[in-house]
Amino acid sequence: MRDITPIRILPGTGIEVLDQTLLPREERRRRLTTVAQVGEAIRMLRVRGAPLLGVTGACGMAIAGEERGAGAEALARAADELKATRPTAVDLGAMIDEALAAVEGAGTGEEARRKALWAFAERALARQRERDGALVRHGRDLPGLEGAVLTHCNTGGLATGAAGTALAVIAEAWRAGRLERCYATETRPLLQGARLTMWELEALGIPGTLLPDTAAASLIASGQVGAVITGADRIAANGDGANKVGTYGLAAVAARHGVPFYLAAPTSTFDAATPSGEAIPIEFRADGEVGGFGGERWSPDGGDAYNPAFDVTPAELIAGIVTEHGVLRPPYGPAIAALTG
Ligand code: MRU
Repeated sequence: MRDITPIRILPGTGIEVLDQTLLPREERRRRLTTVAQVGEAIRMLRVRGAPLLGVTGACGMAIAGEERGAGAEALARAADELKATRPTAVDLGAMIDEALAAVEGAGTGEEARRKALWAFAERALARQRERDGALVRHGRDLPGLEGAVLTHCNTGGLATGAAGTALAVIAEAWRAGRLERCYATETRPLLQGARLTMWELEALGIPGTLLPDTAAASLIASGQVGAVITGADRIAANGDGANKVGTYGLAAVAARHGVPFYLAAPTSTFDAATPSGEAIPIEFRADGEVGGFGGERWSPDGGDAYNPAFDVTPAELIAGIVTEHGVLRPPYGPAIAALTG
């Protein structure tokens, strides 16, 4: 069986990550032992997906303790550097803050503080495994997860370091015999669907069909998918959810055709301090990512590009949000307050 483990923690040393920018052509693991290396890996999407970014952030803090010392000032600087890499996924900043809280509880001894940071990093990964497992159990019987389903971006083990979120729900419904096929958008411009989701579907033995993002509306309109399910990077207090750019369009088209649209996300992806989607910070990425890929350029040099990495789906378009504590249904405000309170 193929090893898709995206992160390995090497306590006292660093982490080893599977470089997701090279998949599926090459399975290369990189050892990261400095904060700068961790920051670069996050910025370049060598590690990616909201929950995995959270775990990586926790590991980055442990690495900071080894590299720069575990004093409060050095750690605060490392925290700022790591948080600045990608703004949308709430998990990243939240786990870094949790790491800082964990080290404060360890007192002032350098050795004890370093150990506390590694212990927290390992706990963060173990917790993700538990959350994914519970989330999957709650999601597998969702109405509409029958026959075929459509997903966007990548939400499998590569995105969480454990089973995954939306893709793990899909896998469980497939194992239960409810699903026969998963349609995956290619997810322009960085092709997480074409490169990563199709690779994971193949590893899981699930029949997958790849489609250009531009074909998703007509696929939904044709009645061939019973549901659309994706992950999320940040869910605001009112249920508006940020996820990979293009998700909003899928949700709008699904609503137009009476197809349920679901998000699947662990509690760590909810941000009760952000009242609605308007306040979610959206990451904009380089122009060059749109006009080419992997070093090849097909658009004229120097052209401008509109390149948001995420968009926000309004809560009213979301039929349910699968979490490790159960499926939230509208109205989301009270349900999210109870979950995060
Ligand atoms: O830019 P990426 O690849 O990090 O974006 C990932 C997504 O949008 C995922 O859908 C989201 O993080 C949920 S992962 C379980």
